[in-house]
Amino acid sequence: MIHLSQARSSIIFAHDGDSLEILYWGKKLGVIDEKSAESIRAARTKPAFHGGLDVAPGNLILREHARGWIGHPALRGHRGGVNAAHAFTVKSAVQKDQSMVAVFVDAIAGLEIEITYTLTPSDILLMDAKVTNTAEGDYFLEHFLYWLPLAEQTDEVLDFYGHWTKERQPQRRSIDYGLITREGFEGRSGHDYTITQVALNHATGFRHGEAWSLAMAWSGNNIHHVERLIDGHKSIGAGEYLLPGEVILKKGETYVAPRAVATFSDRGLDGLTNNHYTWIRSRNNHITKVRPRPLTLNMWEAVYFNHNEEGIRKMVDKAAEIGVERVVLDDGWFGSRRHDRAGLGDWVVSKDAWPNGLDPIIKYINDKGIEFGLWFEGEMVNRDSDLYRAHPDWILQEPGRLPVEGRWQQVLDLTKEGAYNHVLNQVDAVLSAHNIAYIKWDHNRHLTDPISDGRPVVRKQTEAIYRMFDELKKRHPGLEIESCSSGGGRIDLGMIEHADRFWTSDQNDPLERQQIQRWTGLVIPPEFLGTHVGPTVGHQMHRTHSVSFRALNALFGHAGIEWDINEADSHETEILKAYVAFYKKHRDLLHSGTVVRSDEIVGDAQLYGTVSLDKKEAIFTYMQLTSLDNFGPLVTTFDGLDKETLYQVTVVENLSADEFTQKRAPGWWPALTLTGDQLAHIGLQLPVLKPETGLLFHIKAI
Ligand code: DGJ
Repeated sequence: MIHLSQARSSIIFAHDGDSLEILYWGKKLGVIDEKSAESIRAARTKPAFHGGLDVAPGNLILREHARGWIGHPALRGHRGGVNAAHAFTVKSAVQKDQSMVAVFVDAIAGLEIEITYTLTPSDILLMDAKVTNTAEGDYFLEHFLYWLPLAEQTDEVLDFYGHWTKERQPQRRSIDYGLITREGFEGRSGHDYTITQVALNHATGFRHGEAWSLAMAWSGNNIHHVERLIDGHKSIGAGEYLLPGEVILKKGETYVAPRAVATFSDRGLDGLTNNHYTWIRSRNNHITKVRPRPLTLNMWEAVYFNHNEEGIRKMVDKAAEIGVERVVLDDGWFGSRRHDRAGLGDWVVSKDAWPNGLDPIIKYINDKGIEFGLWFEGEMVNRDSDLYRAHPDWILQEPGRLPVEGRWQQVLDLTKEGAYNHVLNQVDAVLSAHNIAYIKWDHNRHLTDPISDGRPVVRKQTEAIYRMFDELKKRHPGLEIESCSSGGGRIDLGMIEHADRFWTSDQNDPLERQQIQRWTGLVIPPEFLGTHVGPTVGHQMHRTHSVSFRALNALFGHAGIEWDINEADSHETEILKAYVAFYKKHRDLLHSGTVVRSDEIVGDAQLYGTVSLDKKEAIFTYMQLTSLDNFGPLVTTFDGLDKETLYQVTVVENLSADEFTQKRAPGWWPALTLTGDQLAHIGLQLPVLKPETGLLFHIKAI
């Protein structure tokens, strides 16, 4: 028996005959000696029921039908129709610290599988598998899935769906018999990607209850399953979705499966989130270890394709006055790209758009102490482009059939060396010739025909973009890359290893975006998530929001602005300055603290915050999204603080609502001292807020 255990969770592996099963995954258990190991094994052995097989398999890692498993197997594949049935025996299972490597062989099928399980100090379970063909002839791999057992008390699954401007919407449904599945074959993770799949109890909330999650750390095709079988097994599984013929292993070749990331929390969804954040932040190259996240002005919604140097200089003047630290020139600076039907693929500065080149504007920006960033979309091509005219053979397509277009573009086949090198060298040349600190890398259509020379290549195309990002960073030390895909279409736990920022969504409307940010933040820390103050009348929903509500919405992320700030009046400019100053002063806390999301809020509102690791400081936001049902007492409590400590709670008035439906403010307004215990259980009476307004609280130990 092998027992991996960290702060709050345990996973136990045990032999089931000559195979290996996961006996338990959940709340941390104490030390297990050999004798109690045997008892646990016996306690968990299922009865063999009438009408079934004479065996009752445990939670087998590989779930072979040949061993009596009645659900989905971990491995599916064949050799041209034969060797489709598998039965692996475990060759070795070796523990080192809190990780375990198991090797399985099936001598008849001629396969070897190696899986490494690593339980990190914050209870993230990393799983890495390899499948090797050890026999003569081709092995056609259909899928490899990682499976983990679920506890009896899981009766609901939470996953996420979405589309452009409405990514990561939650859906929670009961785990009935059969398979609940989310599959993505867009050739990217996608707007509709579930980002993680969570099994939990119906009573589990943000602050309490148990939750088990599993996600693919992968930006290509994917599968996430929850399966409940009539023999009592309930499991969560995930893997790469392989297209037919995508992986054919010759003798000695190995399929390296993308990593899967799982975690268990006994402290609700907040525990699950904080486990992910702690793990992600512990990586040596984590972005906040490099430098604080610069306040960013992206000019897309300010200018779209209308690049006018004089207008942009004016915007930069205002940006400097407000305190912006990075200015990003978006789509439209290159080739014949004066609109979105032409020029994609020609990464050369346009003389039409920028007659003097980019150097003068970059210098102008840099002279004000601001960094410059530039947009690319290197995986795509318009047919109206020099690149396509020269290389119509460099797109992904079924031979003889042109794929349907998405935003008038086709997908470049980066698995072809020529195409890959062309993009790499053109982007590299622009970066070498200019002072560019950061690139925003877009990806504006999904892959309908991911075929190269007749074979499906989503996997190789995904590996190519990872390689491209890594190579660009190697050639340009310090370069940061933002992953964008029509907004938030390529945000996943795989891309965190290659990109430094995600464009969370093209939705800048704060009402819509609260939900998108909340659920993207379930596993991705805020320092990764681009959040911008948009224009007064939003371009997506055409709603009008106060600048403070927009600023509050954008604060809990890698903050920025996406607006022609010369349109801001004096009041709006003052609020923008306050927002920028508050962000700069508190970003270390915003990007390092423990997440707290309240379950107690009634109606359509959200209360969430970040508490510093030493619990001496916290920032909370209360967002009133729709109107209140009544004017009665609405009290909000603040969880996650130290019980004994006395705190000063202050409303940051210039970033909070300035108009209320009340004659007199609550008794404590705008500041009070209470202990952490009192804040958690007595809380504060809120003012009567109007819809689409919010409050910002700064809490500090005294
Ligand atoms: C889609 C992105 O999400 C936007 O932010 C912007 O970069 C446009 N593409 C540019 O075409």
